[in-house]
Amino acid sequence: MTSAAQANGSTEKSEQPDAVPQVYPPSPEFTATANAGPELQAEADADRLEFWAEQAKRLHWHAPFTDVLDWSDAPVAKWFVNGRLNVAFNCVDRHVLEGNGDRVAIHFEGEPGDTRDLTYHDLLAEVSKAANTFSDLGLVPGDRVAIYMPMIPEAIIAMLACARLGLTHSVVFAGFSASALRSRIDDAEAKLVVTVDGQWRRGQAAPLKPSVDEAVDGAESVRNVLVVKRTGIDVDITEGRDLWWHETVDKASDTHEPKPFDSEHPLFILYTSGTTGKPKGIIHTSGGYLTQASYTHHNVFDHKAGQDVYWCTADIGWVTGHTYIVYGPLSNGVTQVVYEGTPNSPDEHRHFQIIEKYGVSIYYTAPTLVRTFMKWGRDIPDAHDLSSIRLLGSVGEPINPEAWKWFREVIGGNKAPIVDTWWQTETGAIMISPLPGITATKPGSAMAPLPGISAKIVDDDATELGNGGSGYLVLDKPWPAMLRGIWGDMDRYRDTYWSRYPEQGWYFAGDGAKYDEDGALWVLGRVDDVMNVSGHRISTSEVESALVGHHGVAEAAVVGAADETTGQGIVAFVILREGVENTGDALIAELKAEVAREISPIAKPRQITVVPELPKTRSGKIMRRLLKDIAEGRDLGDTSTLVDPKVFDAIRGK
Ligand code: WT7
Repeated sequence: MTSAAQANGSTEKSEQPDAVPQVYPPSPEFTATANAGPELQAEADADRLEFWAEQAKRLHWHAPFTDVLDWSDAPVAKWFVNGRLNVAFNCVDRHVLEGNGDRVAIHFEGEPGDTRDLTYHDLLAEVSKAANTFSDLGLVPGDRVAIYMPMIPEAIIAMLACARLGLTHSVVFAGFSASALRSRIDDAEAKLVVTVDGQWRRGQAAPLKPSVDEAVDGAESVRNVLVVKRTGIDVDITEGRDLWWHETVDKASDTHEPKPFDSEHPLFILYTSGTTGKPKGIIHTSGGYLTQASYTHHNVFDHKAGQDVYWCTADIGWVTGHTYIVYGPLSNGVTQVVYEGTPNSPDEHRHFQIIEKYGVSIYYTAPTLVRTFMKWGRDIPDAHDLSSIRLLGSVGEPINPEAWKWFREVIGGNKAPIVDTWWQTETGAIMISPLPGITATKPGSAMAPLPGISAKIVDDDATELGNGGSGYLVLDKPWPAMLRGIWGDMDRYRDTYWSRYPEQGWYFAGDGAKYDEDGALWVLGRVDDVMNVSGHRISTSEVESALVGHHGVAEAAVVGAADETTGQGIVAFVILREGVENTGDALIAELKAEVAREISPIAKPRQITVVPELPKTRSGKIMRRLLKDIAEGRDLGDTSTLVDPKVFDAIRGK
């Protein structure tokens, strides 16, 4: 077995990509009105760059581009060279100018049940006010703004206001800790932090501003903190630094003239986990990113403006929220649901009530949520009229065929096509996915690269594999929404993504994949030390360094073990320092709290085991594969490279 075939995704355990799966062709009715027909692939095959030039016409360009792609400085691409555009104009103003100002852009559903509809008119006014405020604060194009907010309209407004002014936003998931926020603020040298007093979580107002206070204390770059009053809880306001949104943005002028920026102007930085403890600031730019975001949202989701009600359940803290809540959908004039809370607040009916209430027709979510719905039982969705749904999407990890079938049958009324979309923070937009009006899908397979996108599955020697082959997933041609680098560390950019196949100049995605006998592509999961927990990307070394940050821990090893609901669960093995007493549950609880404090509650290990020793190679490298075998209850394979094979008896003895 190659190491790619041992990928740590959840599919490897129970599913058999080799078994002949059922195939689900689209219905003739769906195909008849589908946005994407077979001509799309034909056009891309005929002339890939011309194809992308054509897709770029989905946008309004203030100045046309002179070249489609400049790859002379590879691996840093320039797409739509010399073109000038304003991303916010494309997502907001354009729709108003085209006469659609009264269309609802956002149906906001707050967790406590408050609601707010924003039309494109409203959105334009709000974004203009925020842009005027940001300018008044002295921010100029290229400055960075950190956004640390729950899923409320102001988060989207803040992102668009940045885009409008050429400010580069760095959205930090509001579930991250103060220390995670601080390191991201410092790395990007953000001048402004936009946040809230608190956020609603399961009926409780949870403070968020105190984390910001802790994070920005002593942060040299930060000049201002702008605070949206969401919950009304008491917060400290630091004079001269902190401002209330309702006292500034709400009072600013609601007209603002957008200026065009270069196609390669940096739109955002988004931090994601790599194989080391330090998160990578993935850089995305404007013209290419927005083109692919718009193209994929239109064709993969078959979105029809003015007819569909779209709901992507992601959080803006992740790339899915950037591309498929903000930029892709809004560039296409979407009407979408934005929901603030958890799926079981006040009870497990919430998502289905929302679908029913707004007539959601396109529903894009993560496999982990589908599996959670399965656990809750079909009685819950069955109690609702979900007949408005005509397309379902999945993202974040491989979706196991059982969950796929349940999703289609129970949520999709046995008729809605499912698009299983493979992509990454780095790719910026969907790369591999069925096209819903064309592709006969197989449950669990992302099927094929989209028209205009090129991917291969190769072995260690860069030999391309054919049907039945299993190996590494690479992207062999540049694509418009590709990352342009890692903020402040271009060496790491080259090293992380481009050093595996330097002669070929391929991007290595970090995933293993295989073609089945029919040539359908199955993504198997990560082949590096990156875990995927409920679709969240967490590196083993990040969690390890949080654990050794605890005074009692001498050494830690972390692995992702298969988990029925979350895809992978975090399992940690720790060695205590000399003289530290193992207090059992109390110590474990303390260690889990330490990880939550350092990174986020989402990174808390499912299981922590105190061990006397860790399995190491002679060169001192921890053998994670063996720990994973233990965590998943498997027999150990070859342990001959270990210093002391007996260490397992000690670990197992626990
Ligand atoms: C990793 C990227 C893309 C937005 C959410 C996650 C895994 C993502 C799929 C899929 C199998 C998938 C991969 C990838 N992944 N989508 N449809 N099938 N695996 O973004 O945090 O950058 O994580 O998520 O392992 O490399 P991300």
